[in-house]
Amino acid sequence: MAEIKTIGVVGGGQMGSGIAQVAAMHGINVYLFDTDPQALAKATSSISSSINLLVSKGRLSHEQSSDILGRLRCISNMEDFHFADLIIEAIVESEDVKKTLFVQLDKIAKSSAILASNTSSISITRLASSTSRPQQVIGMHFMNPPPVMKLIEIVRGADTSDETFKATKALSERLGKTVITSQDYSGFIVNRILMPMINEAFFALYTGVATKEDIDTGMKLGTNHPMGPLELADFIGLDVCLSIMRILHAGLGDNKYAPCPLLVQYVDAGRLGRKRGLGVYDYR
Ligand code: CAA
Ligand code: NAD
Repeated sequence: MAEIKTIGVVGGGQMGSGIAQVAAMHGINVYLFDTDPQALAKATSSISSSINLLVSKGRLSHEQSSDILGRLRCISNMEDFHFADLIIEAIVESEDVKKTLFVQLDKIAKSSAILASNTSSISITRLASSTSRPQQVIGMHFMNPPPVMKLIEIVRGADTSDETFKATKALSERLGKTVITSQDYSGFIVNRILMPMINEAFFALYTGVATKEDIDTGMKLGTNHPMGPLELADFIGLDVCLSIMRILHAGLGDNKYAPCPLLVQYVDAGRLGRKRGLGVYDYR
């Protein structure tokens, strides 16, 4: 397969904007689309401020910064994805919504294009089955925040071809990331292990074991994690954490993955974490 020179990113939220930034910083042309024009405007401004910060720290020249921003195009119509060698989606963590998108992308994308998902936990095999090219569908799971985190977890669906895997791995390495490979089981590697820990932290809070501050300090200083589990849940988004727990619970069929009622209640109340200014902690 020819080298990937142009990508499409669907979803300009936390992850999509970060993925678009990383790709543009590594010489790749990027088309970025979001159904919400406000999200697209926010993505553009957060990418620009992140690049400007690197210029102010002396890590990028003004010329490099304008080249990077010049490689990034926000689009209001997905038809432009026809020019992309790979399209990655980073939209809401819902199987139905993602499947509908994959049906649309399958029609728009050129026949050689790879369709990738940044899903945290949803079956790649099932997403692939909604397209006519399951051999060209793959999980390309960036960690949050994509410009900082060094890992990409690649997930092979039942029909993902070796060629698709090799091209996606080569792209990930070109983006400066280390690759791990997972079979297609709910939550893959990272979230299979991380989310039950976060859920358990919610249970510790829910059952009054300790305060949120002590739970987080315990895990930060006691196990050298950069963030405590509740702080990290706010950072990821409590809605995203809950969707992943529900997928683990349904997919792995064990009650140990049942979401904590407190996590469910926070999401029901719109306490989605940092992105809403309120989650376990108050950021307002
Ligand atoms: N974009 C670009 N750069 C960023 C950034 C962003 N969004 N956020 C932070 N940075 C950069 C900062 O500019 C800074 O750079 P320099 O050191 O070069 O100056 C560096 O990262 C450190 O940032 P800060 O000093 O502001 O803050 P920090 O030291 O507290 O680090 C953090 C912030 C990197 C987020 C750190 O707290 C951390 O690693 N937290 C854990 C993150 C984590 O676990 N992510 C994975 C979540 S799970 C997942 O993603 C999978 C899933 O499906 C849910
Ligand atoms: P987010 O809520 O920040 O952003 C999602 C964006 O997708 C929004 O801007 C929304 O307007 C847009 N969108 C929704 N439906 C769309 C559609 N049909 N077409 C185009 N745009 C659409 O979410 P996020 O945290 O960036 O998560 C996105 C994906 O990445 C999810 O699958 C999530 O599981 C995964 N992920 C999240 C994290 C994390 O820490 N938040 C880490 C790794 C992977």
